[in-house]
Amino acid sequence: MQTIILAIESSCDDTSAAVLVDGQILSNCVAGQEAHRQYGGVVPEVASRAHQANIIPVVHMALQQAGVRTTDLSGIAFTRGPGLIGSLIVGVSFAKALAMSLDIPLVEVHHMQAHVLAHFAEDPRPDFPFLCLTVSGGHTQIVIVKDYLDMEVIGSTIDDAAGEAFDKTGKLLGLDYPAGPHIDRLARQGKARFSFPEPQITGLDFSFSGLKTSILYFLKKELRQNPQFIEQNLEDICASVQDRIVSILMHKLILAAEQTGIRDVAIAGGVSANSGLREALEQTGREKGWRTFIPAFEYCTDNAGMIAVAGYHKFLKGEFAPLDVRPVARWEM
Ligand code: KG4
Ligand code: ZN
Repeated sequence: MQTIILAIESSCDDTSAAVLVDGQILSNCVAGQEAHRQYGGVVPEVASRAHQANIIPVVHMALQQAGVRTTDLSGIAFTRGPGLIGSLIVGVSFAKALAMSLDIPLVEVHHMQAHVLAHFAEDPRPDFPFLCLTVSGGHTQIVIVKDYLDMEVIGSTIDDAAGEAFDKTGKLLGLDYPAGPHIDRLARQGKARFSFPEPQITGLDFSFSGLKTSILYFLKKELRQNPQFIEQNLEDICASVQDRIVSILMHKLILAAEQTGIRDVAIAGGVSANSGLREALEQTGREKGWRTFIPAFEYCTDNAGMIAVAGYHKFLKGEFAPLDVRPVARWEM
């Protein structure tokens, strides 16, 4: 008998549903939320309401694209956390109600574990153990991935996440939220000729709040002399900011590979869509003799396909959630 999983992701501002059949993703639909752009960041209340409006159409679309009926489903996987509580509640309540009505198991998924498991959405799939730098809007972690559901976090941010560093800098530059993709696009036309300091933090942890402050003071100083400084130098500023964020991430990843002796190295999460980071990983991989793994774009940013992969492996192990399961905003991996 086939194992058919419907997965739901609603941890932040993307509503997503995916269908996986025996380990293969047949559909992965995402409804983004434009409403946050005008506020320069995700507004939790607006996000919850948009999830409520989007969830049924997105689930319908995922089932339709996969050619699967609800009565074919073996189980329902959902993001339990971490994330915005109001956003999570929509996905969790939907998953619970559908699982209850179909009398099939519910499978809870940790969002950051799922970002790592995006590497198993398509070939090439890494072998265990591998190192994964998971970089998103809320998290920055280096993880030793020992098995599908066995991961050890060996480094993480002590303040802002890498995605926040992109988004907050973008806000200073007047770019729309989320600014990561805009900085990426502008950086490709610029030169990294402004230098921002690398944080002096030992070990495998990261810090990005100092970078944000140094960019703020740099811009203030330049704007006093030339009020058009940002407009005139936008591409070069973006290239310089991206260059520094990427070098901070890569230095720690190189250190982690040296310390663990692991040579299969992957990146995951929204920021792994960044072209500078993707190029830096490939370049460093060639220099160091690593095998490198980068997910396809659709599996980098938030998507239910990755939730389906994680849910499938938990389903096979019989790790089901009770019907009174609650979403959790904070959840250690
Ligand atoms: O994983 P994700 O979709 O959501 C969270 O779980 O947070 O990551 C979103 C983050 C945002 O900060 C966004 O600016 C960043 O990923 N991002 C990028 C790029 N695409 C998305 N950052 C840099 N370059 C990109 N191309
Ligand atoms: Zn995410």
